[in-house]
Amino acid sequence: MVNIAIFASGNGSNFENLVKEIQNGHVDNATCKVLIIDKEQAYAKERAQKLGIPCVYVNPKAYGGKEGYETEIMKVLKEYDVELIVLAGYMRFIGKVLLENYPNKIINIHPAYLPNFPGAHGIQDAYNAKVDFTGVTVHYVDEGVDTGQIIHQEKIMIDPSWDLETLEEHVHAKEYDMFPRVLKMVCEQIEK
Ligand code: GAR
Repeated sequence: MVNIAIFASGNGSNFENLVKEIQNGHVDNATCKVLIIDKEQAYAKERAQKLGIPCVYVNPKAYGGKEGYETEIMKVLKEYDVELIVLAGYMRFIGKVLLENYPNKIINIHPAYLPNFPGAHGIQDAYNAKVDFTGVTVHYVDEGVDTGQIIHQEKIMIDPSWDLETLEEHVHAKEYDMFPRVLKMVCEQIEK
């Protein structure tokens, strides 16, 4: 069993989906020990409460920079004995403290087919570019922006009649389907 922490900044629908897939046994080799949020009002917090998952807010501005901030996060991760960090809509770069303490143990979901459309607006950017396809990628996190080694990715063909909202729905549906499967696979590798 792999102890995970999920990091989120806002809505938290991927967080909720992952926890439900763990709780219903579809992901049977992970335990979600804690949700970490970097925004006090993140809606993910309400979801955590309903799901019975501890939620810890760490204020990025309260510790004199990224190193201090991540050192504070490290205390929480140690307290919960976390082995794998799962970024699910965490809109902040990972710095050297977390990267050094969790080498190849931080994964992220990105709502595009990397290396296409990295950054904070993957769905909108793909939509605006009028490309034929986009997708969802889960990758290891390194010091770059959405540049780490790709673990798994799946395509979504874009129907030209779709508006942005329809594309968003398709991307999120793909995320909810894919992320639990990839998490299970990553945890299997850790357990080996
Ligand atoms: C998700 O679509 C996730 O892929 C994206 O933020 C959304 C969070 O939604 N992440 C990024 O864009 C990271 N660059 P959620 O809070 O409802 O899970």
